[in-house]
Amino acid sequence: MAHWFYKIQLEEKLELISSEIESQKSSLIWHENIESGQHYAGLMDGRHHNGQHGTQWCELQLSEDSVSILEKKVGHPIFKSLFYLWNYGSVKELPIHIDRPEINYGNAISGILPLEGTFDLKVYENIDDKKPVDSCIYGPGDIVLLNNLDYYHKGEVLSGQKVGLHFFLDLKIFDSPTIEDILKT
Ligand SMILES: [Fe+2]
Repeated sequence: MAHWFYKIQLEEKLELISSEIESQKSSLIWHENIESGQHYAGLMDGRHHNGQHGTQWCELQLSEDSVSILEKKVGHPIFKSLFYLWNYGSVKELPIHIDRPEINYGNAISGILPLEGTFDLKVYENIDDKKPVDSCIYGPGDIVLLNNLDYYHKGEVLSGQKVGLHFFLDLKIFDSPTIEDILKT
């Protein structure tokens, strides 16, 4: 097991969660990611970056049933105060960056549940490294838990339009073990 990410199969349970999200689509309020992108790009030589201009995000609610499905699959309580959708639209690249604790609401591990599109994720220990420490391709039917505060990451949309549900494990940074420690509990 790795420190940087862990990929889990959600499989047939995806249908339950994606239909619940679909039912909310008409009431979702989408925001352009332009402002936060510009803000974070100005920090630390652009190394902290919340996505790329041109993407959109919105907050949404998840039922207790869906949260319970996610928690059973990841084997750890989920931070229930924030779930959001992130839609890349026509954007195909996520530039290399590391996220800051505020982005994660103080939680150590972010989770991604892809709804559309396949994505090639690469993880680096240092921003200047030529070779990633690891990589994975994920898409609908997967969940990826990512240590996005300790590891630089970037990615490329391989097919389709990337739309994903984003969440966090309910695990604060100060009591953060590694991903393998979390999954042992
Ligand atoms: Fe990130």
